[in-house]
Amino acid sequence: MLPNHRFTSLPAYAQLQAHYDVLKDRHLRDLFADDAERFPKFTRQFDDILLDFSKNRITDETLGLLLQLAEQAGLTEAIGKMFSGDKINRTEDRAVLHVALRNRANTPVIVDGADVMPDVNEVLAHMKEFSERIRSGAWKGYTGEAITDVVNIGIGGSDLGPVMVTEALKPYASPNLRVHFVSNVDGVHIYETLQTVKPETTLFLIASKTFTTQETMTNAQTARQWFLDTAKDEAAIAKHFAALSTNKSAVEKFGIDPANMFGFWDWVGGRYSLWSAIGLSIALYIGYANFEELLEGGHAMDVHFRDTPPEQNLPVLLALVGIWYNNFFGAQTEAILPYDQYMHRFAAYFQQGDMESNGKSVDREGNPVDWQTGPIIWGEPGTNGQHAFYQLIHQGTKLIPCDFLAPAISQRPLGDHHKILLANYFAQTEALMNGKTADEAADELRKAGKSEDEINFLTPFKEFSGNRPTNSILFKRLTPHTLGSLIALYEHKIFTQGIIWDIYSFDQWGVELGKQLASRILPELQDDVPVSTHDSSTNGLINAYKKLRGE
Ligand code: F6P
Repeated sequence: MLPNHRFTSLPAYAQLQAHYDVLKDRHLRDLFADDAERFPKFTRQFDDILLDFSKNRITDETLGLLLQLAEQAGLTEAIGKMFSGDKINRTEDRAVLHVALRNRANTPVIVDGADVMPDVNEVLAHMKEFSERIRSGAWKGYTGEAITDVVNIGIGGSDLGPVMVTEALKPYASPNLRVHFVSNVDGVHIYETLQTVKPETTLFLIASKTFTTQETMTNAQTARQWFLDTAKDEAAIAKHFAALSTNKSAVEKFGIDPANMFGFWDWVGGRYSLWSAIGLSIALYIGYANFEELLEGGHAMDVHFRDTPPEQNLPVLLALVGIWYNNFFGAQTEAILPYDQYMHRFAAYFQQGDMESNGKSVDREGNPVDWQTGPIIWGEPGTNGQHAFYQLIHQGTKLIPCDFLAPAISQRPLGDHHKILLANYFAQTEALMNGKTADEAADELRKAGKSEDEINFLTPFKEFSGNRPTNSILFKRLTPHTLGSLIALYEHKIFTQGIIWDIYSFDQWGVELGKQLASRILPELQDDVPVSTHDSSTNGLINAYKKLRGE
């Protein structure tokens, strides 16, 4: 169990508030001018990942106080509890052990008196054997043809991780096997996917921790029917459907051969499950050896997180810097901006990872919090974002801390593309930090031959205040290993913040209400009788829908 503390009652919180009042008006330009050692002081290296957090509105004192905050919140003890299988997900009475899924050291991890590693290893061995048979063509479909397409049907954590990783690691994929992902219950999603595949050569992975999620079960039934329309033989299902789930009886009820079930456990949170059987589409796409490399990278970051002092610990530092803006500067959002097209779903993935974990408003005793918890996470790959929303980051009224991620070496070297991309990567954080003073803007206008009247008018629009904070995460190359480490880096950042904010990060009760109401409304949509059981807006909308669909 995790002890309770009121975040705002921690002694370091008050000290940070006082410190904020002193520091809030200092400009990053001056902090750099005053300290020639700022870059070495505020950078950390882990393997071939460099974290530069020097372009943040922090000093030695800020960092010292933030580290005290972490200590006073019991971070070190909490990390120990997670790794040792304590039931730190108290509202669901579960351990939090995605780290066991990638525990390459294979040291025992005990939950309820039993080591979970033999089970973890057994499922991994099954994934290895299965993915190798599919990839080699040894596994045949019901007509004797090899599998060419894998359709993963899942949603949330049973979709976003595999989508993000398979996109990020496309260069490692086999050209003989395509992967598709169906998540939305909007029939358009599965319709469009099924247009591109053939029943004889398609493998469906029904990915659902609970095996009860309405969207996934609806899509799975549609896929099953579509398959049987051609195969006309229920026995053929065994060759074309596999289940990734914790719910054995529901899998059997659906008609999937237990030999094609890949299990996992209640101590794997949905949004932390890509390392489990939910990652089967990843193993199929990039090969099991590369999937293992992903696990290795995650494990390396786990060891770093568990064993490194906070002041050297990358996830802890990212978390603390985030707290500084979230709780003292009042920043509402954080942008994740990968300068790598293959990482184009990275921000979307951590939208769930972060917002479903830390979007909470009661503390660990159930009392309302009077402090800000999880930020809004968003982002798109650079340079596309630059031509879309960066205007607001540079000159808008909101403070938006940004993480800039980039590989030094492109997976697809092509002329000067990567240098141009990285020139933008470096330029953006420099511009956000320094801005452009009114004098600089006026000078430029003067050099461009503008009249003094025009200069006076235009200068305020051309001025950039700067002082906008960024982290830069520069890594060598987007390998499975490095991607594994980067994912684990953000996972542990989220964990650290949840601990410090005194909230439970591993439940997600907030998604339940909408689900409950949808199941209440669904029967009401089956006929054309007007409804009157809701508020006037909901009644009005449902009745308008019934009218529209009938016309
Ligand atoms: O959105 C709520 C949620 O429970 C997520 O946490 C989870 O990743 C998703 O639904 C899918 O759940 P399941 O894997 O059980 O189908």
